[in-house]
Amino acid sequence: MPEYVISIDQGTTSSRAIIFDRAGSLVAVGQKEHAQLMPQAGYVEHDPLQIWQNVQEVIGVALGRADLTGQDIAGIGITNQRETTIVWDRHTGEPIHNAIVWQDTRTQPLIDELAASGGTDRFRSTTGLPLASYFSASKIAWLLEHVPGARERAEAGDLLFGTPDTWVLWNLTGGPEGGVHITDVTNASRTLLMELTTLSWHDELLRAFNIPRAMLPEIRSSSEVYGHAEPSSLLHGVPVAGILGDQQAATFGQAAFEAGTSKNTYGTGCFLIFQTGTEIVHSTNGLITTVGYQLGDAPAHYALEGSIAVTGSLIQWLRDQLGLIRSADEVEALAGSVPDNGGVYVVPAFSGLFAPYWRPDARGAIVGLTRYANRGHIARAALEAVAYQTRDVLDAVNADVPVPLAELRVDGGMVANDTLMQFQADVLGVPVVRPRVAETTALGAAYAAGLAVGFWSGIDELRANWREDRRWEPHLEQAEQDRLLRQWRKAVSKSIDWVD
Ligand code: G3P
Repeated sequence: MPEYVISIDQGTTSSRAIIFDRAGSLVAVGQKEHAQLMPQAGYVEHDPLQIWQNVQEVIGVALGRADLTGQDIAGIGITNQRETTIVWDRHTGEPIHNAIVWQDTRTQPLIDELAASGGTDRFRSTTGLPLASYFSASKIAWLLEHVPGARERAEAGDLLFGTPDTWVLWNLTGGPEGGVHITDVTNASRTLLMELTTLSWHDELLRAFNIPRAMLPEIRSSSEVYGHAEPSSLLHGVPVAGILGDQQAATFGQAAFEAGTSKNTYGTGCFLIFQTGTEIVHSTNGLITTVGYQLGDAPAHYALEGSIAVTGSLIQWLRDQLGLIRSADEVEALAGSVPDNGGVYVVPAFSGLFAPYWRPDARGAIVGLTRYANRGHIARAALEAVAYQTRDVLDAVNADVPVPLAELRVDGGMVANDTLMQFQADVLGVPVVRPRVAETTALGAAYAAGLAVGFWSGIDELRANWREDRRWEPHLEQAEQDRLLRQWRKAVSKSIDWVD
C-alpha cells in the first residue's frame, strides 16, 4: 500500500499540492500564485488555464521535494476556493471566459432584479443561502448572457460549468478525452442551485437563473472514488477520492466532525464554520446554511457558516494598493509600532459586507482619523478589523445555537500573527486555539480521499491526529472590550448604504 496521500488546494491566490503521511504530518509542498485580474471596479477574475497549468506544476514540485512518484500516492484529494465560476467547452477544454471569482460583484443588478419579488431570502429555505452575487448561480447567468453564443452552446450541451474542484478534476481525469464532470455536495451547496434536503439541483432555481441543467456537474459525496488521474499526469492511475470546498475541508482537517464543533480560517477572507450534524439549521442571525461533508453513502452533515469576504486580502491591499508594507508579514511589526489603534477603524467592505450583515451597498471605510493617525494605526486597525469581523460572526453563531462556543479553533495563513491572535481572543472573550498542523484545508481533503481508499480506517483515527500547538487566553477588561466593539459597530454603520 502506498504510504502517502496528496491534496490539491486550488485557492483564491495560489494553487498548492501538499503530500501527507499516515500521521497527517506534512511531507512536502508545492505552491504557485496566479494572477488576480481586476479589469474594473467590482470585477475579479482568474485565468482557468493558468490555474490548471499551475496545479500540474505544483504536483511535480511536491513529488520532487518528497522524492516520490505517483506510485507512492494512495489517493488524491481536491479542495478549492468555492463559488468561483468557470464555464468551458467540453470538446476542446477551452474556457469561454476567465473564471468569475467569488469576490466579484458584477452580478448585483441581476440579484436586485430577482430580490425585487420575494426579497433576498427568497431561496433561503431551499438552499440555505441569501440571494447574493457571492454564489455561483448569477455568475453562470452572467456568462451565458454576455459571452456571444454561450447560451446556444450551453443549451446544445456543449458547455460545462464547474467550480475549481470540478475544473481540476475534469482536467486531471482526461479533459475532453473522458474527464469526469463531478462536484461534491459541499461545493454544490454554494451555487444557489442545490436543494439542501435532497442534495440535488433544483428545477425552480435553474429556471429562476435560466441555467440549462446539461451544463451542471453530477453531485457526489465528499469521499468516494470519482475517477483516476489520466496517463500523461505525474499521478497517472491514482484515484481521485475526495473533494471538499476549502472551508469545509479546513473544518474536516481540524477534526471538527460532530455537531457543536467549529473552526475559523484566516485566508483571503475569513470563514467560521459551526457543524450542526445531520440537522439542517436555518440561521435567523445572518449566517448561511451549508453542507459540512458527506462520506460516501452516509447521510450528509450540515453546518452554519459566517463568511467574511475580506481579511487577508486587506493586508494584501495595504501592500499592493497603498504600499504601506512590502510583504504581508511586515504588517505585524508596523501594527506593533503603535500602542493601540489611536481611534482608527478600517471597515474592509470591498465587496459589500458579507456575514452577518449581507449589505452589498456597503463600501470600505477608514474612520476615526485625526492628525495624530499614522501608518502604524492604519495597519493596526486593519488587523483589528479581521478580529472584529470574526466577533460579529461569533455573536451570530451564539445567537443561533443554544450552547455558546467555549473556544475557537483557528487555522490559515494569518494564525502565525501573534498580535492578531491575542487580539482575537481579547475581543471574543474566549480562548483561541491553533493546531500543530496549520495546513488544515489541504489536510481535510487528504483525509476525505484517504478515507475513501482505506488509507485511514475512520474518523476516530483522524481525531487522534489532532494536536494543540498554541492557545491564546483572553485578557482584556470587559469595559474596554465593550468600548472597542461599540466603536467598531459605529464604524460599520458608516460603511453601510454607501452605494447610490
Ligand atoms: O468562499 C470563498 C472561499 O472558499 C475562498 O477561500 O481560502 O481561497 O480565500 P480562500
